[in-house]
Amino acid sequence: MKISVLNNRHVLIGVTGSIAAYKAADLASKLAQAGTQVDVIMTDAARQFIAPLTFQSLISGSVFTDSDLWGRKAHILHVDLAHHAELLVIAPATANTIAHIANGLADSLLSMTALAARCPVIIAPAMDAGMFENPATQANLRTLEQRGIIVIGPAEGRLASGLSGAGRMMEPKQILSHIRRVLGEAGALAGCNVVVTAGGTQETIDPVRMITNRSSGKQGFALAQAALDRGATVTLIAAPTGLPTPVGARRIDVRTAAEMTKAVLSAREKADALLMAAAVADFTPAKSTDQKIRKSGEGMHLELLPTQDILSLVAEGRQKDGWPKVVVGFAAESQDLIENAKKKLKKKHLSMIVANDITATDAGFEVDSNRVTLIQASGNVQALPLIPKMAVAEAVLDQVENLLKGKG
Ligand code: CTP
Repeated sequence: MKISVLNNRHVLIGVTGSIAAYKAADLASKLAQAGTQVDVIMTDAARQFIAPLTFQSLISGSVFTDSDLWGRKAHILHVDLAHHAELLVIAPATANTIAHIANGLADSLLSMTALAARCPVIIAPAMDAGMFENPATQANLRTLEQRGIIVIGPAEGRLASGLSGAGRMMEPKQILSHIRRVLGEAGALAGCNVVVTAGGTQETIDPVRMITNRSSGKQGFALAQAALDRGATVTLIAAPTGLPTPVGARRIDVRTAAEMTKAVLSAREKADALLMAAAVADFTPAKSTDQKIRKSGEGMHLELLPTQDILSLVAEGRQKDGWPKVVVGFAAESQDLIENAKKKLKKKHLSMIVANDITATDAGFEVDSNRVTLIQASGNVQALPLIPKMAVAEAVLDQVENLLKGKG
């Protein structure tokens, strides 16, 4: 799908001679699918690992190699490429290319372009662990960072040599998250604090048992990413989930409804917007034990107490000091969707509620798509079709942006 922060942006990918070059093809493909105009520069060494045609088949832009250095327009090619790009991403970046750029050498189209670039530059190193740890490489990377170049990775793991260590290129997904951060920095929500809650809280019965709500956290994490895409400062209060933190978000991990309450209340006062996507447990065991409860062959009674309604506490604070300016709640309903969601909107003093019908099998829990209706306190109702959770997040953030600007 097209992703707003990437759509119609211009990214130049530099590919150098590493076995990770094939992963650069995945990165180029992901960017192209998101709507980005991608051009690629390959070094001669990169061409030993992957063909220019691979990239050309994936992108609508052009693939340049050192043979273009001596073409008709060669004298301006590197300047042109450097000036048109909004971002230069060198992935994978070998120790050799890193050394060239750190020392201002310009002996290939890629190193010339890097030297001429005025846009932000991201470098994703990939090399043998020994080469990475070598003081020369470390010094070169520090030099690049001091000059404002963003160095991401490398990750630890199995290397091409068969050994393990730091030297694996960051995965394309992670590089993409960094690209979004850079391209979104000056977005419409720059300077705004957005707090997002995600996932299902867990209430302890004993060390192996718990009560929780069904929630993968995917919608909440997509909201955090969408807010970051617009330049917001994002605090992500997450109940247990295996999802990776979107690059740039400050993540606070919590487990229980009580822990989430504490985290939300402390983040509330500085928040321009609170997006309460978490599925908070409504009940917690009256007592939990440190030891595992043994089965006796009989049934057992579990006494449950209500948890605190976090949004009600937020509303109390908001009445006193006006923060957060915008509060968005979520309503998971199995019947009378709109009617019940409207009741919650009113009862919890929300700016907007995102209502979803949890009986639909193609949307909601665990899957990547959702079908929701956005209902605003002003009475405005917007029913969205079945779309990816990221698209839902963008639609929610469009409304949050309007509400913050007083246009809602
Ligand atoms: N919520 C909350 N604190 C709770 C429970 C829910 O702040 N203890 C928030 C959720 O994060 C969501 C909204 O309230 O944004 C609605 O949650 P939902 O579970 O749909 O509704 P409930 O308030 O639990 O009401 P009911 O169980 O009657 O549907």
